[in-house]
Amino acid sequence: MQTALFRKFALFAELDERELSSIAAVAKSRRYAKDDVVFHADESGDIFCLIREGQVKVTMISPEGKEIILSMLGPGDFFGEMALLDNEPRSATVIATEQLDVVTIWRSDFLQILQENFSIAKKVLAELSRRLRNASNRIESLATMDVYGRLARFFLDLAAKQGKVLDNGYVAVTRPTHQSIANMIGTSRETVSRLIHDLMKQNLLLSEGKTIYLRKTALDQFRAEV
Ligand code: CMP
Repeated sequence: MQTALFRKFALFAELDERELSSIAAVAKSRRYAKDDVVFHADESGDIFCLIREGQVKVTMISPEGKEIILSMLGPGDFFGEMALLDNEPRSATVIATEQLDVVTIWRSDFLQILQENFSIAKKVLAELSRRLRNASNRIESLATMDVYGRLARFFLDLAAKQGKVLDNGYVAVTRPTHQSIANMIGTSRETVSRLIHDLMKQNLLLSEGKTIYLRKTALDQFRAEV
């Protein structure tokens, strides 16, 4: 694979051309269609994946078949590091939510890369810390907040992550389906639809095509409440 491709990943930002070529030499490319399962929870794992294009959801499926979305990951993000680091089975099921292109690295190569490049090991640890913080916040909100509070926090996080501030007093974000919001905040699709409908009636939120426009005053109100 070409080294130019690897320059786009923040994980490899501090590597020189020689170090990049040694990674390019062991990396492979894989493609998945929308809804393909990349990893099943509990299977054994041998590869580390970096997302070139597309998006995945990291999920756990309850014994009753209910899906809980732990995280959505997109271009530049990585997954599949945990099973390689702790020699345990995959911790979650990873599913492509759109056509997905990934760069894969085998376990032994991944471990060797970490051993030889402290900058990469530090970035993997920093990302694991960030994910642990997110998981702690989720536990806190599930234990202490009602559904409205969890939805408010969900919109605040979404706006912070990908919101485009517009001149007309709104912040635009890509609209996830009501079902996926429900699976992220631990409630039913019907409840999410009802709460979003209430926010629309109060003019705090507009939904048009694939975009949700959140009123800045709504975000201020959410911030004061969560
Ligand atoms: P692994 O356990 O090998 O396979 C599933 C992957 O999902 C895991 O590595 C992580 O990369 C990712 N993952 C698991 N839990 C979370 C989480 N809470 N947030 C983000 N990503 C996660």
